[in-house]
Amino acid sequence: MNFVRDTFKNSTPSVPHFEINAFIGNEWVGHYQRNGEWIENVFVREDMRRRGICKKMMMHAISQKKQLRLFVRNNNLEAQRCYRSVGFVPRTGIDDMTEMVYGQIVGQ
Ligand SMILES: CC(C)(COP(=O)(O)OP(=O)(O)OC[C@H]1O[C@@H](n2cnc3c(N)ncnc32)[C@H](O)[C@@H]1OP(=O)(O)O)[C@@H](O)C(=O)NCCC(=O)NCCS
Repeated sequence: MNFVRDTFKNSTPSVPHFEINAFIGNEWVGHYQRNGEWIENVFVREDMRRRGICKKMMMHAISQKKQLRLFVRNNNLEAQRCYRSVGFVPRTGIDDMTEMVYGQIVGQ
């Protein structure tokens, strides 16, 4: 899998905000965003799901940053399985969302 990383134009230099697109060959298969330590907008193309693409995208994120966090809906078990499989653990819950973290979150 290949990854193409772009930086958002309004990104703060000290907390870069990235859009990462994932490709198999020339085929776009999914994307995620990383805003500092926050992972956002994880999405895998519907016809390409359950093949480990989310897992590979999160491994890519970990290769770039050792502390990560995200929010996931409590009922989104597929996404939670993906995050757990690379080492994210649940930390707090807010309403119907769970915060999951990877690595040691500084100051927490
Ligand atoms: C959630 C989402 C990103 C998961 O993407 P995915 O590429 O299908 O996920 P993965 O294949 O990497 O892994 C998820 C689980 O799918 C299953 N799976 C993975 N490969 C599989 C295979 N070859 N055969 C059967 N099941 C498989 C496993 O249960 C896996 O968990 P595991 O690694 O613990 O076994 C995708 O469903 C999606 O885009 N959903 C809509 C948007 C969304 O909900 N985003 C998350 C917001 S927090």
